Amino acid sequence: MSLLILKIGGSVITEKDAVSCARKDEIDRISQEIASFKVNSQDAIILVHGAGSFGHPQAMKWVTGGFDAQGVYLTHSSVKLLNSMMLDSLNTAGIRALPVHPLSSCLLENGKIVEFNLGQIKLMLERGVVPVLHGDVVMDRAKGAAVLSGDRIVPYLASVMNASKIGAGSNVDGVLDDTGAVIKKITPVSFIDIKKHIQGSGSADVTGGMLGKVSEFLELAKSGTSSRIFNASRKGMVSKFLYGEDVGTLIADK
Ligand SMILES: Nc1ncnc2c1ncn2[C@@H]1O[C@H](COP(=O)(O)OP(=O)(O)OP(=O)(O)O)[C@@H](O)[C@H]1O
Ligand SMILES: [Mg+2]
Repeated sequence: MSLLILKIGGSVITEKDAVSCARKDEIDRISQEIASFKVNSQDAIILVHGAGSFGHPQAMKWVTGGFDAQGVYLTHSSVKLLNSMMLDSLNTAGIRALPVHPLSSCLLENGKIVEFNLGQIKLMLERGVVPVLHGDVVMDRAKGAAVLSGDRIVPYLASVMNASKIGAGSNVDGVLDDTGAVIKKITPVSFIDIKKHIQGSGSADVTGGMLGKVSEFLELAKSGTSSRIFNASRKGMVSKFLYGEDVGTLIADK
């Protein structure tokens, strides 16, 4: 059984320029695309979603300034709302999906993952269940609490669970060059020149936007595991990615 890990960006499922504003139609459309694939496939699937406007503005207000338990609670509660919407939509579409909250299953040290409970995720996969994780605020040995992005969760799980297909759907056609064209492939070597064209996010974003995403995925590429960044806001693209088509930007070792 091969493992597929898909991140759906908060830029796709929320209105990132607002606060706590979900795009329910997009959530439902993506759930349908995943459900259609899942009935035809033996692959195990882990989903991770970004926090979008349910996490970035809240973390900026309550988490990044220093430890405050109430701020952790408010930020986590907010992103958990978005996670519940995802879970409702996936289950309605016929996917057996269950939530896994990083606040309750991970530990950080200076933002780096030092503990991650995998037992429940593995058991869900064995039972044909799709675990759904998300960007979250997580306890951190050095900082008290810190943001753990979906973009960091994906490569971590891909590496420790030996995933064979990894992708992140965002609201752009891939990583774009200075002319706005999609860069077909980025490697650690080509990144040296390309890096200057990649910025953070156009909206409130505490996890580095596109530059953060590419940097996280390049670390995974260095250990030999490729991934893709593609546009999940375009109808049918999640499906194309799941079926293994050449979508967006490939992040690879060579
Ligand atoms: N060179 C680039 N190519 C593509 N996008 C870029 C580039 N430089 C900056 N960006 C910005 O990065 C954004 C995507 O990152 P962002 O973090 O906002 O989305 P996301 O990761 O899908 O959402 P979330 O962090 O909520 O999960 C794009 O909408 C774009 O504005
Ligand atoms: Mg992001």
